[in-house]
Amino acid sequence: MRLPKTGTIEVAPSILSADFARLADEINEVASAGVNIIHLDVMDGHFVPNITIGPPVIAKLRKVSNLVFDTHLMISEPAKYAEAFVGAGADHITFHIEVVDEPENLIEKLHELGVTVGICLNPKTPVERIEKVARLCDMVLVMTVEPGFGGQDFIPEAAKKIRRVREIVGPETRVEVDGGIDTQSTPIVVSYGADTIVAGSAIFSKPDRVAAVNAIRESFEF
Ligand code: DX5
Ligand code: ZN
Repeated sequence: MRLPKTGTIEVAPSILSADFARLADEINEVASAGVNIIHLDVMDGHFVPNITIGPPVIAKLRKVSNLVFDTHLMISEPAKYAEAFVGAGADHITFHIEVVDEPENLIEKLHELGVTVGICLNPKTPVERIEKVARLCDMVLVMTVEPGFGGQDFIPEAAKKIRRVREIVGPETRVEVDGGIDTQSTPIVVSYGADTIVAGSAIFSKPDRVAAVNAIRESFEF
């Protein structure tokens, strides 16, 4: 599965707020809304103060879903675990610039392993940190909450970085946004140039996930 080409706005549900005892059903439910991407949040209890899933869970999910596995590594040593995540079935791997000294090397390694690559910025990390390497990536992820937990409030100042990121990468690279995204914040981030919209609690805390995905889509169809 490949990340969709640019030119569309994709809603990427994040499983962080899903029922982890029923992950396959949860993913298939949002798939029935026609989403192409599922966002998998990986946390190591070190880079962020929370722990979620790793390669064994992703490998099992791979058997039940054909969605693009957008794997958001909130871990301190992404290079060490890159191959394990690719082997498990990740299609796209995003790592945080805050923990990688030589991002060019990791981007190259991930491309050689056959996945598309994302680079991510925390709310307090300036865009300059990714300026040189952003164009080597297939997607840039702008965090609009401090990573670690679902259901936090959207940080409007962090979202403003999307405009600068879009200027840097141009139209051929996806710009993803993650954190506090709902029907209120989606039109704002889309107007700044985001085209890949991660939403966790705005989808999985609702009883009807298909309706929740559609509500997000309708919020940016000006
Ligand atoms: C936060 C994760 C997000 C999270 C978003 O650290 O990276 O993907 O699931 O959750 P919401 O959409 O509830 O802010
Ligand atoms: Zn995420």
